Amino acid sequence: MAKNIAIIGAQFGDEGKGKIIDFLAEKADVVARFNGGNNAGHTIKVNNETTILHLIPSGILHKSKINIIGNGVVVDPKELIGEIEKLKSKGVEVTPHNLAVSENAHTILEKHIKEDKEKNVHIGTTARGIGPAYTDKVARRGLRIADYIARNNDNKLKPFVKNTTLLINDLINKNKKILFEGAQGTLLDIDHGTYPYVTSSSAIAGGICTGLGIGPSRIGMVIGVAKAYTTRVGNGPLPTELGTEQEMKEEKSYKELKSDLSEEGFSKLMRSIAKKANEGNEYSQGRLLRMNGVEYGSTTGRPRRTGWFDALMVKYAAMVNGMGAIALTKLDVFSGFEKIRICVGYKYDGRIIKSFTTNVSILDKCEPVYEDIPGWKESLNSIKEFKALPENAKRYVKRIEELVGIPVCIVSIGAERSQTLILRKEFLF
Ligand code: IMP
Ligand code: MG
Repeated sequence: MAKNIAIIGAQFGDEGKGKIIDFLAEKADVVARFNGGNNAGHTIKVNNETTILHLIPSGILHKSKINIIGNGVVVDPKELIGEIEKLKSKGVEVTPHNLAVSENAHTILEKHIKEDKEKNVHIGTTARGIGPAYTDKVARRGLRIADYIARNNDNKLKPFVKNTTLLINDLINKNKKILFEGAQGTLLDIDHGTYPYVTSSSAIAGGICTGLGIGPSRIGMVIGVAKAYTTRVGNGPLPTELGTEQEMKEEKSYKELKSDLSEEGFSKLMRSIAKKANEGNEYSQGRLLRMNGVEYGSTTGRPRRTGWFDALMVKYAAMVNGMGAIALTKLDVFSGFEKIRICVGYKYDGRIIKSFTTNVSILDKCEPVYEDIPGWKESLNSIKEFKALPENAKRYVKRIEELVGIPVCIVSIGAERSQTLILRKEFLF
């Protein structure tokens, strides 16, 4: 049994970390964020009610868990108070007993948001002021939350602000079970991602130590969350991308179509997209993933770019994070695909590359080499155990294990907490 578990994005964020953390939180004592800010959007669905968290750790929906926002996070005070109040209005308990914010976390100020909107359009950031706030931190002119409170006498935030380094080390000493909640994903990491198309923090497991003030030996198990396909919001390379960004920008969103069309009109449209996808039209394959998977940003609402699973990328993520196992999410989205592809290599400059590179100028010219796996028609949403999955779905999971080189411990087949299949308990609490 694992004691502490880190949940890290193995792709470009939006892998379903919030759902996996909420699922595991039942048996944990503490959930701690160590990087990023309210650029994150962690979606949790329990009993048909959806909650999107941006800053508050995904343990908050469980009673009597301690949620920590570590020093490595950048905090927008207004957004944090807004999120606390929204949760409270839904009847969720949020008090200084179950939420602590590091006094050393840096503050996102109005000027940071303004600068992000004006200067970072080429990266396609979430425009939440994340990059400029981290820039000021590294340049040693930032404002820590403790100082922000002292200057602004913010009485709403004050009771939550603590020395979280002491707190978390004390909790570890007391043998409490900690879940480390990564935000964004490995390929968006400032050091190990597709620079410069990255976020400004350490999204990999290494960020846990600096972002919370604990030693590496105390992390325990690292589980990488990977979607059964790939998505990316914002700019930068995506070797397995299906369709062009231009095609995607011209399409109506899931929400618009749902409100514009009758129920029958909507299913007719979905059938025609599926037909084109199964005839091999790449844009339609990407669109089908986007529609079936509801791939629209939970923070910004932007449509996500979609592509096939990239085994090279996730294998690289497994390496830089020391991942012990994978939680594979959104497998249900493939139902109805006649053929599913996995990227097993890149064609570059007349040769085949078998390992991932974060060099953007190389990556831009890489063409994926695919292996095809037959799909399945059945819906997976109400399946209760791995054994009961269609044979081809099991084959897909097994092939991912072989290609990435580590086991899959969880398969997620829907947004609900209950739609989660456990394959290997030994990696979990
Ligand atoms: P920033 O983090 O707002 O500076 O944005 C930098 C890049 O990371 C952009 O491509 C964003 O779309 C992307 N990004 C930031 N946070 C997330 C996230 O939580 N999920 C997915 N992409 C993200
Ligand atoms: Mg997200």
